[in-house]
Amino acid sequence: MRVYDIIEKKKHRLPLSEEEIRFFANGVASGEIPDYQAAALLMAICLCGMNEEETFFLTAAIAESGDTIDLSAFGEYTADKHSSGGVGDKTTLILAPIAASCGVIMAKMSGRGLGHTGGTVDKLESIRGYRTTLSSEEFCELVKKNGIAVIGQSGNLAPADKKLYALRDVTATIDSVPLIASSIMGKKLAAGAKTIVLDVKYGSGGFMKTPEQATALAETMVKIGKRYGRRVAALITNMDVPLGNAVGNALEVKEAIEILQGRGCPALRALCLALAKTIVQLSLGIEESEAERRVTEALESGAAFDTLCRWIGGQGGDVSVLLHPEYLPAAPLSLDILSERDGYIFGMNAERVGEASLLLGAGRQTKEDTLDMGAGVILHKKTGDTVSRGARIATLYASDEARLEKAKECFLSAITYADKKPKTQSLIYKTVL
Ligand code: URA
Repeated sequence: MRVYDIIEKKKHRLPLSEEEIRFFANGVASGEIPDYQAAALLMAICLCGMNEEETFFLTAAIAESGDTIDLSAFGEYTADKHSSGGVGDKTTLILAPIAASCGVIMAKMSGRGLGHTGGTVDKLESIRGYRTTLSSEEFCELVKKNGIAVIGQSGNLAPADKKLYALRDVTATIDSVPLIASSIMGKKLAAGAKTIVLDVKYGSGGFMKTPEQATALAETMVKIGKRYGRRVAALITNMDVPLGNAVGNALEVKEAIEILQGRGCPALRALCLALAKTIVQLSLGIEESEAERRVTEALESGAAFDTLCRWIGGQGGDVSVLLHPEYLPAAPLSLDILSERDGYIFGMNAERVGEASLLLGAGRQTKEDTLDMGAGVILHKKTGDTVSRGARIATLYASDEARLEKAKECFLSAITYADKKPKTQSLIYKTVL
């Protein structure tokens, strides 16, 4: 078999066979296929597409290109959740302890942030002592003891995706449904959970710009997961505006604690409960209304907060900061952003707010950048809110003045105003089961 022939075939819009797709994914993972040929095939797939069958084969080949995690010792109730990337998305910190409190086993690998989007592993590392790297024995022991553990992506999981994703990032081949679906689901299938719930974002801060595009991606991923023998569902959610009121690592941990203590942003709480409900419903095989009752009870009784404390403490994190969030890292400098006029906030571009947070030091532009855990943005107003000239819209936090000034410019470019209240979209567009 020759990669040249496979590229030629896809260029002519012909479907690739399972053998050809596996040859490609394994050759990429082992380094036998050079980057220029891999990139040529990625562009051909991007332009000519893949049918359902090919997309499934590519996903399975990515999932099986390296180590796979065997969670079968934990039984049927293992679950994982994936978000397709967002700004202010701290949902894992909230829904994982809620679902674990309901008897679901959350043995999870999470990612780091890159560009304008944040990552759960970075947020967790803002808690003093929390270890995101564990041996597999320690990981399994903690899952057994607490029903929950969250670590960073391990070395050899879906190595074909690692290489393909890096190539896609620099060859303008990110925005392709078969490539995104196989990349996300390849990693999720390799991570071993029986239930997978996907939060597929659309809007200015998401990969997909419209709800229709997000639905097409979600449907593809749900079909792939089911065919691979997993229980899968997806929520299509809005990422035009940042999620919740905090963007930045320690600031988001603080906001997650607030929700688990029964306070905080109602829309964020509602999304976390909806995701947790879907995880519990699918994992335990119970009615939706019963799942809803159990997750609400776990949150309101404080059981989920207690699970958070056991989880964080089990992984070496300082539990006192969960009880006293004022001990979390905090940036020494702050700057209020004031409204330029009377009226309504018409738009708050999530991608730009994410970029402002990155400029403050909360994100990284290259993988080597060090994060300022206390840096970020607190939003006092969001799309649809009324403002009067001079009112505080947001506060920026950083460790140096130059960063505050740069981020201010970026943040201001995210905001548009109107005289009339704009129509706001609901956070959850629909569920794909
Ligand atoms: N997240 C992934 O893991 N892969 C993609 O292709 C897009 C988002």
